Amino acid sequence: MLRQSTMRLTGLSVQLKLLVRAKAFSTSSTRYANRAVVYTETGNPADVLRVQSYDPLPSPPSDSVNIRFYFSPINPSDINLVQGVYPAKPAQLQLSAEQQAFVGGNEGVAEVVDVGNAVQGLRKGDRVVVGKPQFGTWSSSRVVPAQDLIKLPSSGLSDVNAATIIVNPPTAYNMLHSFVELQEGDWVLQNGANSAVGQAVIQIAARKGIKTINFVRNRPDLDNLISALAELGATHVFTYDALGDKSLVKHVKQWTSDRPIRLMLNCVGGRDTTAMTRLLGENAHLVSYGAMSKQPLSLPTSQFIFKNLTAHGYWQNRWYNEHTRQEREELMRTITDLQLKEPEHEVLDLSNESSDEAATQRLRDIFVKMEQGFGKKVLLRL
Ligand SMILES: NC(=O)c1ccc[n+]([C@@H]2O[C@H](COP(=O)([O-])OP(=O)(O)OC[C@H]3O[C@@H](n4cnc5c(N)ncnc54)[C@H](OP(=O)(O)O)[C@@H]3O)[C@@H](O)[C@H]2O)c1
Repeated sequence: MLRQSTMRLTGLSVQLKLLVRAKAFSTSSTRYANRAVVYTETGNPADVLRVQSYDPLPSPPSDSVNIRFYFSPINPSDINLVQGVYPAKPAQLQLSAEQQAFVGGNEGVAEVVDVGNAVQGLRKGDRVVVGKPQFGTWSSSRVVPAQDLIKLPSSGLSDVNAATIIVNPPTAYNMLHSFVELQEGDWVLQNGANSAVGQAVIQIAARKGIKTINFVRNRPDLDNLISALAELGATHVFTYDALGDKSLVKHVKQWTSDRPIRLMLNCVGGRDTTAMTRLLGENAHLVSYGAMSKQPLSLPTSQFIFKNLTAHGYWQNRWYNEHTRQEREELMRTITDLQLKEPEHEVLDLSNESSDEAATQRLRDIFVKMEQGFGKKVLLRL
């Protein structure tokens, strides 16, 4: 599990100030000028997060653009960052001349609304994402250096897919391509298979003729989940309960015609993950990218000695930090071309709430629901 730490924004007023809000658009619905989901100390998101209006943006400096986010997802790592258990620095936002706060959000889709006079290759109305981790996307409008933006095609990619393109699909794509050279007919094993990453893994693998054995938690509507994952291209779907069945290894060998499973993707950790490694063949690679169970992962030494298992961690943030803007854009193009299904989602539109307090209450309510297992990606609109 990641180290628990407490972060506190010092020297800042934590008092909520009601700022005068200007109406941004004169459409039938009211959208207030600028709002963000902010916090001044780490803790339980339902307690520490609040929605706050902030000052209108100035015109952008010559090398920057002003953007307006329209959908910004809430991902598990965003929650971990607010809790103070994720090893990254949260972004800070200047709310007014005298007030600053941390602002959440690592991805989101935005529209360019104003362009600095030296910027090339970006125009008003372009659809963009921020190509740098931890930008603080839970905000309505922001000034961004043009070099940090990735322009997305204006068509061929839904706004929901555009809003969720930076974190989960590239993680799935890179894990499937970076550790084992998979060929058509090869097999991949994964847990947390119904997560956004897991669903992207299923789809990307299926497009290449790679078969997947997928594990999920049991639930009352399991049959629906199994059908939905099968529709995405999953070859087999099990609950972790199946790991208690001694004949599972034999069945897997039959399905795979003894072709060794050489890649396992781990989103969960804990004892079930340990048990899954029994299904791996020789020279396999276990890639851990999440720790949803919050349990440590222990692996039998025999797997390393007799089966030559290799264990890795994967972090998409590291990939972004180590790759150029051109490489990031290339990855976005690759993901766009894959035409992945939109993740199941719900939009939490706080842009029309009459007060920051009312918006904060709705936001906190959704975090309470998410703690209980909401089952859908929440996309914020501020
Ligand atoms: N390393 C990286 O670069 C990277 C990139 C992207 C995501 N991630 C990580 O990948 C994980 C999934 O992210 P996501 O956005 O795809 O998540 P998501 O769509 O919100 O799905 C969460 C998944 O975790 C499962 N889960 C939750 N609590 C669990 C528990 N106690 N035991 C077992 N399974 C549990 C859920 O299963 P139920 O449906 O049964 O609740 C669901 O499958 C997160 O840990 C995230 O931080 C890492």
